[in-house]
Amino acid sequence: MDVVETIHDLRQRRRIQGLNQVVGVVPTMGDLHAGHLRLVDHCREQCTFTIATLFVNPLQFGPKEDFANYPRALAKDKAELEQRDVNVLFAPSIEEMYPDGQSAHTTVTVPHLSEQLCGASRPGHFNGVTTVVTKLLQITQPDFAYFGEKDWQQLTIIRQMVRQLNMPVEVVGVPTCRESDGLAMSSRNRYLTREEREIAPHLFQTLRDIATHLHEGSTAYADLEESATNQLRETGFRPDYVAIRDPDTLEPPTASNQSLRVFGAARLGRARLIDNIGVAR
Ligand code: PAJ
Repeated sequence: MDVVETIHDLRQRRRIQGLNQVVGVVPTMGDLHAGHLRLVDHCREQCTFTIATLFVNPLQFGPKEDFANYPRALAKDKAELEQRDVNVLFAPSIEEMYPDGQSAHTTVTVPHLSEQLCGASRPGHFNGVTTVVTKLLQITQPDFAYFGEKDWQQLTIIRQMVRQLNMPVEVVGVPTCRESDGLAMSSRNRYLTREEREIAPHLFQTLRDIATHLHEGSTAYADLEESATNQLRETGFRPDYVAIRDPDTLEPPTASNQSLRVFGAARLGRARLIDNIGVAR
């Protein structure tokens, strides 16, 4: 595996080694766990040339968020990717990605979708994501790009951006990888204390309970959201939202919606956990 830190070197590798290959990219912020590696596995199955990117993107963190403390584990990440026969790891510095500084940088905004759910409590977050993903796609020029369903809103926003800006890449969504007790794998699970780690799976259980009610035909969306929020609060979370939405528009559903997505975000100790689950009726 080649480890490349500059855009110039990445482009050179892409041009020479990626010629006549099916190129896939897996963007990450590192501290890789089985969820990230599942994306890599999907990419390796579908593509003949796999690029992983590792960049903790300051643009998508709010001023009071955990950019400085975000877990970094470069040596371990390199070893995991090497083992999985990734062809190139692109791990640029902040200066390489934002040479003119962050505030002077051109940004990409996906309106509406970016303002809802996590966008409401993390203003600017998704603009940071769409800006860096645009740059990473421009730099790596892949045929396929892999993103996790764990971050469903992010995946939806990226699909919309790629479609509206006619980017020549196919976005592939990969199902959420979970711990045996249901907790969605996340780098931020590291922030949980032992007691909090025991409480954490309740987020997924709460969303699953809602999904069961919806599957059985309930359309009492507001009641389901409210009682789930109270339940999370009683279990020790500080809930941000529980929301039943259309999976594509992320708008509140109508009674005739055949497919729904249940979203939850809640703080637990130092961690902000998110999860979501699909429902077909
Ligand atoms: P990061 O949180 O490192 O996640 C990288 C990719 O792994 C994302 O597509 C995310 O949805 C996926 N992922 C994370 N946990 C997962 C799980 N438990 N199961 C399946 N997939 C999972 O998301 C980001 O980084 C950044 O916003 C990024 C897209 C790299 C832009 O900076």
